[in-house]
Amino acid sequence: MSDAIKLPMKKGFGITDRIDKWWNKPFWMGFGLSLALVYTALRVLVWNGEIHYDNHRVTSPIFSPDVIHIFDLQTPNWLNSALLILWIPFGFRGTCYYMRKVYHRVFFQNPTACVVAKPKISYKVDYKGEKGLFILNNIHRYMLYLAIIILSMKIYDVYHTMWFQGDNGVESFGISIGTLVLAIESMLLFMYVASCHAFRHLFGGGMNQWRNGISGIFGKLHIKISNLNIEHAFWFWTSLVMVFLGDLFVWAVAEGIINDIHWIII
Ligand code: FES
Repeated sequence: MSDAIKLPMKKGFGITDRIDKWWNKPFWMGFGLSLALVYTALRVLVWNGEIHYDNHRVTSPIFSPDVIHIFDLQTPNWLNSALLILWIPFGFRGTCYYMRKVYHRVFFQNPTACVVAKPKISYKVDYKGEKGLFILNNIHRYMLYLAIIILSMKIYDVYHTMWFQGDNGVESFGISIGTLVLAIESMLLFMYVASCHAFRHLFGGGMNQWRNGISGIFGKLHIKISNLNIEHAFWFWTSLVMVFLGDLFVWAVAEGIINDIHWIII
């Protein structure tokens, strides 16, 4: 067995020969994720009054799919749809391969960054792979299936925003800013799901070879999805940010602070 080669790393948290602003990216990633967690907790547990408007025509992305309303569930007052469904997006994003890189670097400082010394404690804890609690990361492919179901329901939500209830009970078909907001949110989420490593595996990743016929088609799809996968981090962040922008929009309309301008087509 060959001896492990140790790189000449300097010791001391943050010590490095790098001259670029290496801390910039991890700082903003840590800030963004912490803000997202705190905002979600407050919105779901404290400020959870206004989650939709026009009698559920448009629902906030955090509370969508609004399963309590869709399935007419009888639940206690304190319970809302986000509390019932958020474990799916949390589980999907939390086990995401890109997210693993982010939290190991940002929160566990393991490593701090390329060629940057990590804190002493991180040497003791050290990265041991997908073991212990991290073994749960292996459920990612199953979380993907659930995320696809959530995504389909969100696409239906967009369609639902296009039906306006008139005073006389007659429905008309149209489009509003709320439709566009939810459509952008669904499109970004679709791109995040479609660029997922596990999604790529569904299309030809498990095959031994790509030849003619079906396997050839899967091979071509696999290459296309692999191209999307290159920008997975971009789709991770844009889809996450849009959830909160969408929520702020719905909240502001529901509170009467802004109007949802709409255009009736039929
Ligand atoms: Fe990121 Fe699957 S790898 S969502």
